[in-house]
Amino acid sequence: MSHVVQEKWSSGTAFLLAAIGSAVGLGNIYRFPYVVGENGGGAFVLLYLGIVIVFGIPLVMTELTIGRRRQVPPITAYTQLSEGKKSQPFWIFAGYSSVITPLGILGFYFVIAGWTLNYVFKILTGKLSNLAEGDTQAVFADMMASPGTLIFWMTLSVIITAFIISRGIKAGLEKAVNILMPMLFVILLSLVAYSAFNGGMAETFEFMFTPDFEKINMKTLLEATGQAFFSLSLGSATMLVYGSYLPKEVSIPKMACGVAFADTFVALVSGFAIFPIIFTNGMELNSGPGLVFETLPVIFDQMPFGNVFGIMFFLLLAFAAITSTISLFEPAVSNLEERGIFTRRKASLVVGIGLWCLAALSALSLNVLSDWHPLAFNSTLENKNIMDLLEYLSANGMMLVNALFAAIFLGWIVNRKESLEELGLGDSWLFKFWRSIIKYVVPPIVGYLIIDFLGYGLI
Ligand code: PFF
Repeated sequence: MSHVVQEKWSSGTAFLLAAIGSAVGLGNIYRFPYVVGENGGGAFVLLYLGIVIVFGIPLVMTELTIGRRRQVPPITAYTQLSEGKKSQPFWIFAGYSSVITPLGILGFYFVIAGWTLNYVFKILTGKLSNLAEGDTQAVFADMMASPGTLIFWMTLSVIITAFIISRGIKAGLEKAVNILMPMLFVILLSLVAYSAFNGGMAETFEFMFTPDFEKINMKTLLEATGQAFFSLSLGSATMLVYGSYLPKEVSIPKMACGVAFADTFVALVSGFAIFPIIFTNGMELNSGPGLVFETLPVIFDQMPFGNVFGIMFFLLLAFAAITSTISLFEPAVSNLEERGIFTRRKASLVVGIGLWCLAALSALSLNVLSDWHPLAFNSTLENKNIMDLLEYLSANGMMLVNALFAAIFLGWIVNRKESLEELGLGDSWLFKFWRSIIKYVVPPIVGYLIIDFLGYGLI
């Protein structure tokens, strides 16, 4: 079926930068700190770390293995690895499901990526300077109420992403992450250093690591798992497709640990960049998206060199977003190209236009279409507009489902020999341990979480 020989990453390091770029995104810098805030701090952080180690690393290994085994795009990987099995049609469906999910995610992610680009522009042009208390709320609300602004900046994020993708793996993705990722780390570390000089570190440490176990319940478990899967780019074909470009001699277990470590490090460090600023300024840890777009700009406006740090902060968010949007865009393009349906450039254009339409609907659901609740017949979904629905169904629901499919597929359906050869761990206790996790631990727990997710009223 394959019409095109797939390009490969030029090295393990190139892959690592791209995969870390995918994992590190709005989920780490924008979402992680406020989800920690909403869930009471320490207990949530520890739960999150536990989930990354127990499920996260084994699942990243699983998805990379499925992707690299035949070095083909996700749908073809599922098709070929289930060759000769009675259940093959189901696994082909699983392949489709995993490729469609990132498109749903991009439907809302592009809009938020647009906010970050808009904020870089706002701060550069002084629109966030000399604000009185409360003004930043108005600035944010104005942006949300303006279809033109939202669509303009969203369009820019779609164009940048589609352009990078259209250039291919080495000239596009690799080049972009080679430039953006080092800048991202430099900016992040400078922000933490700045925060450290300004105090609030001890308070932050206490907030992030003192567990109050009473705060843990089914809902926090679901939330922490969802956050970990989202942050590690699981269940969305990204790791499958990035894995398919990974040269055979590179060790998958090492790469998986590298990605999980870097991703978690950035999430925690983002907390250490943001919380001290909030604590030392005596601000309320107001939760939700307002933390980054309303609270931080007030503080950047007041503190010494705040403007410079504000620009750095929103650039950091924008870079992190773009290295993630490219990874969400690639699976669909890679499948279309491989099937000879379109060249890479045409595929980038077609997928870009389709996603632009979806993201435009999302952007409009923040203002003119805010009262349109397409799935109002369901009691859980009745108050959700398009953007909420995309986030809820793709990022919360489908990612869990796809990750479960991947674990069952490699654990129970595909011949053991395939993963034994691909992981390069030999028939060691580590290999057996990994396999037991994906066979016996992931399915019941993630399955339970999915049932629970559905139980919140979906059915
Ligand atoms: N991991 C990204 C973040 O934390 O923002 C989001 C993401 C990227 C999710 C790629 C899924 C994915 F396939």
